[in-house]
Amino acid sequence: MKIIVTGGCGFIGSNFIHYVMHKHPSYHIVNIDKLTYAGNLENLKGVERKSTYRFIKADICNSIAMKKVFDHYRPHAVVNFAAESHVDRSISAPAVFVKTNVLGVSTLLNCSLEYSVQKFLHISTDEVYGSIQRGKFTEKSVLEPSSPYSASKAAADAMVLAYVKTYGLPALITRSSNNYGPFQFPEKFIPLVINNALKDKKIPLYGDGRNIRDWIYVEDNCEAIDHVLHKGRIGEIYNIGGQNERENIFVIRAILKSLRKPASLIAYVKDRPGHDRRYALSIAKIKRHIGWTPRTSFESGIKKTIHWYKSNTPWLRNTETGAYRSFYTKYYSKMGLSE
Ligand code: NAD
Ligand code: DAU
Repeated sequence: MKIIVTGGCGFIGSNFIHYVMHKHPSYHIVNIDKLTYAGNLENLKGVERKSTYRFIKADICNSIAMKKVFDHYRPHAVVNFAAESHVDRSISAPAVFVKTNVLGVSTLLNCSLEYSVQKFLHISTDEVYGSIQRGKFTEKSVLEPSSPYSASKAAADAMVLAYVKTYGLPALITRSSNNYGPFQFPEKFIPLVINNALKDKKIPLYGDGRNIRDWIYVEDNCEAIDHVLHKGRIGEIYNIGGQNERENIFVIRAILKSLRKPASLIAYVKDRPGHDRRYALSIAKIKRHIGWTPRTSFESGIKKTIHWYKSNTPWLRNTETGAYRSFYTKYYSKMGLSE
């Protein structure tokens, strides 16, 4: 099988490439990535020389470049991870989220139609459903995105489903909860907490710190995506949840305890505008139709994750240059925290 993976230099995309190359050694992967601040070639160390792997630096919004890649490689399947993915950045600068997450996806959908791709798997998020106080979101829940990020992802989901209905494109969607694990850029909560704690730096905790996320270890998500790619039904949406709901304050305390760092590092700061209170996903459908359930408890996943970041301090240091650095200098000073 020949698969185009977009956004394969980011967090989940790179984990997925490692997962697929290990599980299906005969598959060929073509990784298309623009290498934004979040894309990191270091994440693919070890696979980049394999004959079954190709990397192409390109923007999914560039239809000429995309046509060239599709024409040359003629993929059987496309798995689309490429996106602007950080909610705080979408609040400060929404335009690029609309461009990549909506226009970019439309470009890939057009190419997939033109080159008769057999499966288009679009990677979406539980954030499209918005916040839920009690109970869990199913795939039939109404979409009520809160941030420019989640609104752009909801728009992309609607485009994917429209291409299934209107043009018969064989596409399907996964919506996962919050991932954590190796190679996650340290702007996201868990790697940010680990990174700051390792440096004895203040950890900004938004609002009252009681917001809840359902954490999934990234390898579990990769396994689920692989199953959906092979066994999922065209036109369907599959929720992928970790079934590990935790309050943010609980997550910070667990990490600080494991690193033997003091609670005085926690700095309560102004809340994120439009901050969703709780995410919770029903995974009954993927269990029933695909036979997948998550394997990793939060306790074992966070242990592995902390160990990975402690053992990869050069990787962490390398992420703290360029765009990351300038964004966070402004961001931290806005929060009243010095770097
Ligand atoms: P990430 O920000 O770590 O990686 C995104 C990758 O996409 C980067 O390598 C970046 O260079 C690339 N990219 C960005 N714009 C591009 C463009 N225009 N053309 C080509 N490449 C481009 O993101 P992630 O956390 O790995 O998320 C991957 C996907 O999964 C996203 O679609 C995101 O919405 C979704 N998702 C993420 C989570 C999570 O917890 N991280 C949860 C649910 C869904
Ligand atoms: O739910 C899936 C989504 O999870 C993905 O679609 C997004 O791409 C991904 O970024 C993530 O979004 P969140 O907004 O939930 O993740 P983030 O890591 O930014 O924040 C997790 C929680 O921690 C959230 O309640 C906000 C809080 N937080 C975050 C940061 C960065 C803090 O309290 N302090 C922080 O510094």
